Amino acid sequence: MCGIVGAIAGRDVVPVLVEGLKRLEYRGYDSSGIAVLNGVEVRRVRRIGRVAEMEAAALEKGVAGQLGIGHTRWATHGGVTEANAHPHISQGVSLVHNGIIENHEEQRERLRGLGYVFESQTDTEVIAHLIHHHLSHGSADVLAALQAAVKELTGAYALAVISAAEPERLVVARMGCPLLVGLGEGENFVASDVSAIIQATRRVIFLEEGDTAELTRDGVQVFGEDNAPVQREQHLSDVSLASLELGPYRHFMQKEIHEQPRALADTIDAVINAGSFDASLFGANAEAVLSGITGIKILACGTSYYAGSTAKYWIESIAGLPCDVEIASEYRYRQAFADPRHLVVTISQSGETLDTMEALKYAKSLGHTHTLSICNVQESAIPRASELVCYTRAGAEIGVASTKAFTTQLAALFQLTVVLGKLHGKVNAEQEVDYLEQLRQLPGSVQHALNLEPQIAAWAERFATKANALFLGRGLHYPIALEGALKLKEITYIHAEAYPAGELKHGPLALVDEAMPVVVIAPNDSLLEKVKSNMQEVRARGGELFVFADQDSNFSASEGVHVIRTPRNVGVLSPIVHTIPVQMLAYHAALARGTDVDKPRNLAKSVTVE
Ligand code: F6R
Repeated sequence: MCGIVGAIAGRDVVPVLVEGLKRLEYRGYDSSGIAVLNGVEVRRVRRIGRVAEMEAAALEKGVAGQLGIGHTRWATHGGVTEANAHPHISQGVSLVHNGIIENHEEQRERLRGLGYVFESQTDTEVIAHLIHHHLSHGSADVLAALQAAVKELTGAYALAVISAAEPERLVVARMGCPLLVGLGEGENFVASDVSAIIQATRRVIFLEEGDTAELTRDGVQVFGEDNAPVQREQHLSDVSLASLELGPYRHFMQKEIHEQPRALADTIDAVINAGSFDASLFGANAEAVLSGITGIKILACGTSYYAGSTAKYWIESIAGLPCDVEIASEYRYRQAFADPRHLVVTISQSGETLDTMEALKYAKSLGHTHTLSICNVQESAIPRASELVCYTRAGAEIGVASTKAFTTQLAALFQLTVVLGKLHGKVNAEQEVDYLEQLRQLPGSVQHALNLEPQIAAWAERFATKANALFLGRGLHYPIALEGALKLKEITYIHAEAYPAGELKHGPLALVDEAMPVVVIAPNDSLLEKVKSNMQEVRARGGELFVFADQDSNFSASEGVHVIRTPRNVGVLSPIVHTIPVQMLAYHAALARGTDVDKPRNLAKSVTVE
């Protein structure tokens, strides 16, 4: 989705803006632009397509200056055109915007009446004119004009604004969309995502809802919703530059798949080191909250929803608590029943998915008081709005298709399950030691699964020519089948569906013929015999089976049945290990089809719109 970067410095900021925008590319975008102030002249460059094209144009035009803003746009209001790309300018006021202004039509009419001429179809241009209007009707400076303008907006925004008449300041505002300030030496920055400025500084201030701020070269002043100065805490970001670079890999998705043993080891580190599953993993007050709840409601989207769907099996069977899992975009619009004794768990890699954030707000409005966020991005919106937090330690995930974020979410959810089990008297000391040992072995088992890459790549060649695929799983592994199908469709554009294997005969079996590859996740667990019968149903209709079994499963390949064996069955953590092959299958099928693995068409990394 859209990205913002801005800088005020004693040096030319164009390289800072361009590098920042390149680091934001992973979020998904269709056009980009910068506006830079040199003396009293604003120079703007906008291009459709890659940031590199915009950069080349800026270089050719010799754009340079010590104050500037930049943006990557993901079209919402108005098509993908240069005129709709940000920054938008209203007579010297230049601005970039993330989010959606809900009352933009009403404001547009009003501003037209005041003589403003619109050059784009965006909701953003309304804000530029509104700020200009306030500047020319009594506001003392661009900060005051911004503060007045945002009071007239409804919707979500992160804004960065410069004015040709005020070369000494960059002003910003935040409501509903993430925005942070980066603190440098004699220079300061703003960004929607820390990765955009990490090359310049690690010292950051996360702006809060309703904040505005003024950045000069020498300082930053933040103002609260009532425009009174406020102090906001400084943080030292732990995002590393290495996590934002490709290194020896061809794609970020490949890198991130291979980082999973490390990401999992980091995520479980505290439990392994402590030698116990302690409630304090989820925050200081967690023990009191988690002991008092009587059930769990999980809200999430996409891959994160599948992590929640897996956790349901764990929570009900290990912790003995009722758990329901719901797609956030559905929950937020239905008349839901709220039991305040239930803990609302949101799962979000980015921590800024709008549907999940709104579902959380809705849950609170219905009377839920206990909330926990499982998130991969420090200080992002969803954990900040939650009572308890568990940060996964996957590191920055750049590939649009989620991989290491998913498996670390599963690891965090498993830890939550055992903590709940202990607090609710369902997990005794002996079982705890056993779960600890299983967790300790997890990174190694995942590494073992990664070693299957050559075999999986060979299968993927055959998938690459197919139009459809089916994924089957049962129990704990049904959500992994769903995740496998999602990965395949996202990055190869092959139509893929997943079913609980027992559902096959109730309809989807009609799809099976010689042209239909059927991927089966068949670990050596109590459901294996049932899965084998389901496989027979497929074979009998001529379907070709691609089976991910365990080392210790008792069955072998035969005509039309291909088998790859993951490590020996790892018990309840098996869904994590069985995720690796389906990720690699999708990755290699995408390579064979030549699709854009890291930036699949039509998708964005952080979905901050409805
Ligand atoms: C799929 C994928 C998406 C996200 C979904 C939620 O590979 O990445 O389905 O899982 O958009 O995103 P987060 O977890 O950031 O809330």
